[in-house]
Amino acid sequence: MTRRAAITGYPVTHSRSPLVHGYWLKLHGIDGSYERVGVPPESAEAFYRDFAASGLVGCNVTVPNKEVAARACDDLDDAAKAMGAANTLWLDGAGRLCGANTDGIGFLGNLDQMAPGWGENPGAALVLGAGGAARAIVWALLSRGIAPVYIANRTEQKARDLAARFEGDSKALSWDNIGTVLENVSLLVNTTSLGMEGQPPLEIDLGPLPTDALVTDIVYAPLETPLLAAARARGNKVVDGLGMLLHQAVPGFERWFGVKPQVTDELRRLVLADLGIAP
Ligand code: ATR
Repeated sequence: MTRRAAITGYPVTHSRSPLVHGYWLKLHGIDGSYERVGVPPESAEAFYRDFAASGLVGCNVTVPNKEVAARACDDLDDAAKAMGAANTLWLDGAGRLCGANTDGIGFLGNLDQMAPGWGENPGAALVLGAGGAARAIVWALLSRGIAPVYIANRTEQKARDLAARFEGDSKALSWDNIGTVLENVSLLVNTTSLGMEGQPPLEIDLGPLPTDALVTDIVYAPLETPLLAAARARGNKVVDGLGMLLHQAVPGFERWFGVKPQVTDELRRLVLADLGIAP
């Protein structure tokens, strides 16, 4: 019988997940489908609590349902538990709904693929932003033993709340104090929307940043953001944000369809073409 999975959330019309999973299903010749299922917030709790009725073997969860999905699960992985949010669900053999949060794994998987060895002599990391993506990335960095993880955010209180959320060495700082830690940082991550098409660029003085620090951005439209261009121009290694989107999809596909898929250049090109982004 065809195994069905889906992206669930509201809206789901712009999601690239069907393209990614559709590519892997075809590549591996699997009798499966990956659909778009709009789940508006008012019916989300009922949908996830009675997930078996959907006929799906599992699903991805996107905004704004990640928290309600986590609450509906019988079992959560460490990441979803720590974040209080799940983006990947599946029914186990006993029909229990299990949830994971793979955003942090996707972030690490992208760096591991594009900058092998980046975490071998870890120094401090600086995360810019304190929203949902920052939550996953801070968790991921702490789980890899990176210390300290500095968090700077325009609204400083949100950085403080995030720093207090997880066990481990994370420290909040005000946006104005970015320059005071930059010289000690070996990884700089932008999780804000600055630099995205239609948004102002992220303007920080990279002067004190060591030239062997790695710089990465979760923005992938454009692929090379002004931050990455500036970092590359002064000799820093840079990693773009597309890979995080692709790598976060890997664990779900493996759960639902039994094959661990690869993030290939061909898949990157396919998604970039669909997004209308120059490679
Ligand atoms: P996501 O879930 O993708 O992380 P989000 O929760 O909306 O998205 O978070 C967006 C992040 O970008 C926030 O850290 C936000 O800062 P605030 O918490 O102060 O709002 C940051 N951001 C957005 N526009 C910004 C700007 N013009 N200057 C600085 N930071 C900005």
